[in-house]
Amino acid sequence: MQAKERIILALDVDTEDEAMTLVEKLRGHVGAFKVGMQLYTAVGPDVVRRIQNLGGSVFVDLKFHDIPNTVASAGRVMTRLGCAMFTTHAAGGTPMLSALAQAVKDEAATLGVEPPLVLAVTVLTSIDQRILEEDLLIGGMSVKDVAVRWAHLAEAAGAGGVICSPLETAAIRAACGPRFKLVTPGIRPRWAAKNDQRRITTPGEAVKLGADYIVVGRAITQADDPVSAARRIGEEIEQAEGELGVK
Ligand code: C5P
Repeated sequence: MQAKERIILALDVDTEDEAMTLVEKLRGHVGAFKVGMQLYTAVGPDVVRRIQNLGGSVFVDLKFHDIPNTVASAGRVMTRLGCAMFTTHAAGGTPMLSALAQAVKDEAATLGVEPPLVLAVTVLTSIDQRILEEDLLIGGMSVKDVAVRWAHLAEAAGAGGVICSPLETAAIRAACGPRFKLVTPGIRPRWAAKNDQRRITTPGEAVKLGADYIVVGRAITQADDPVSAARRIGEEIEQAEGELGVK
């Protein structure tokens, strides 16, 4: 995998035109494009097909969380859509996660295609200790411990990876093994604005901490020169890989 293929660009925009302008500009410089709730609910699956028609890989980030049958059906739709990866919530529990993983595998086998990577969201970074204990009634555990426990649960149920904080990657890697994919948002190069992200990590640090893919939005999309921002991030990742001795 080339360094730039680890970059997933978040297309956090409202319209297909804005999304496609970014895709056309950046398609040779990142590994995949993330279509999240904002864009998908505004324009639907057509934008995914348009990105794929230009040769782009798509990460559909809709964070499915429902009864097993419903989530499994949505997983079959994602497989038919041909996205490279999509998200669900680990908090949906083992029956939901395993029904989803099985449905994706079966649908991909029927179609004769590679199954998309099922990524589980563990504990959202907006959840703090107080929310965990007082609102969600999960007592006696730290946010990080819950994230690691849920990552392990997702892995055991057949998910291919998780979305996690770069600060949780080492513990999750230890619990879930080397093949489990770790995708981390909250990335800011030193030269970019922090915006509303608080606990941030640079692209190089994230890779050194064990991330397989990094999700980057505004550090690229709002840069004066998005192509050069993406290139610089790719170079930082390459340097980190060199220091780690991986390629
Ligand atoms: O612009 P920025 O790089 O902050 O965008 C990060 C992307 O990653 C957004 O699409 C955001 O929803 C997502 N994300 C995040 N933090 C999380 C989970 C997802 O920033 N904990």
